[in-house]
Amino acid sequence: MEHVLTNARIVSMQAGDIGYQPSEPLSIVIRDGKIAEITTNTFADHPQRTNCQGKLVTPGLIDCHTHLIYAGQRANEFEQRLNGVSYQTIAAQGGGIMSTVKATRQASQDQLTELALPRLDGLLRSGITSVEIKSGYGLTLDDEIKMLKAAKALETHRRVKITTTLLAAHAVPPEFAGKADSYVDFICQSIIPQVAEQQLASSVDVFCESVGFNLKQTEQVFQCAIAHGLAIKGHTEQLSNLGGSALTARYNGLSVDHIEYLDEAGVQALAQSTTVATLLPGAFYFLRETRKPPIEWLRHYQVPMAIATDINPGTSPFADLTLMMNMACTLFGLTPQEALRGVTTHAAQALGVAASRGQIAVGYDADLAFWSLNHPAELSYQVGIPSLQARMVDGELCHD
Ligand code: NIG
Ligand code: FE
Repeated sequence: MEHVLTNARIVSMQAGDIGYQPSEPLSIVIRDGKIAEITTNTFADHPQRTNCQGKLVTPGLIDCHTHLIYAGQRANEFEQRLNGVSYQTIAAQGGGIMSTVKATRQASQDQLTELALPRLDGLLRSGITSVEIKSGYGLTLDDEIKMLKAAKALETHRRVKITTTLLAAHAVPPEFAGKADSYVDFICQSIIPQVAEQQLASSVDVFCESVGFNLKQTEQVFQCAIAHGLAIKGHTEQLSNLGGSALTARYNGLSVDHIEYLDEAGVQALAQSTTVATLLPGAFYFLRETRKPPIEWLRHYQVPMAIATDINPGTSPFADLTLMMNMACTLFGLTPQEALRGVTTHAAQALGVAASRGQIAVGYDADLAFWSLNHPAELSYQVGIPSLQARMVDGELCHD
């Protein structure tokens, strides 16, 4: 089936500054869900023609790090933190991730999908066409599988592409209290093999942190994931510098995420790999962190930077990717061009799909976002003023 979009001002996000400049009005020919041609032809007599009326067309945005599936909420902890209790202390007292684990274990798979829909709708309103979703609030074989299935089921409710990540190594569950090594063995002997066998996730993530898993445990999980044909990624250097980013880079992981405490040596390790540096300004903002990720070094060593919402109930309750672009600019000093790269080409790389998503180019998936804006800088500039007109996923227009 062929479909033509005419009169589109395209921000292709192909390599270089030129990919960021809106084109003159052009037509995009879409065949079988892929971009087949980009041309000045206006196709006056084409039977399947949509006039974009000069709207800005970008690649569909990609949110490459979320914890969209969870039950409960943690406004009480937000309040505690504002009364001076730290995130780490709340976690040590059994709150934090554990309180969400408790609520998530009690919910059914269908309830988890249902609870995630309004959050997903928020992301869709910010123009996303792909989203990564992690498990990590189940921490038993059955509950991790339940979360991954609940995440995948979202695709049957909304037009969006979902990539799932196993994050069983998010926290040590109460059943293994004081026995983190045994829990890591359990992840490697039971959870990863089952999840790989049932094809419920394409990658495995580890929270490598003093309140999470140490370097040795992280490496054990990575090696097991790779042996099962899964990609790896890490929550690294969020609260301290353990060297998790360099470890992830050594295994050519997809991405290292948070990275506020990453040092120059860590950035150099990333530069020697294909690993993307994913910035999560929502968590930085919400935890009122002061230590910023090393943007200058990342630029200097030309490490690709992605930006994601990290939406979760504890550290980033924000279902808006363009808000994250704004925060990456205002809090971390990214340029609006870097911010848009961070949610298109670089986010695609962070999901391992850079050859088919994240750009408007011939051969790429026809995943697009249509905006009533003049210039792509406006995506990072304003917040809360609806400008998304429509999304397209695999050539299918969605007016949600
Ligand atoms: O990405 N850092 C670890 N995991 C999440 C937070 C999870 C939670 O607090 O529920 C994050 O910030
Ligand atoms: Fe996260």
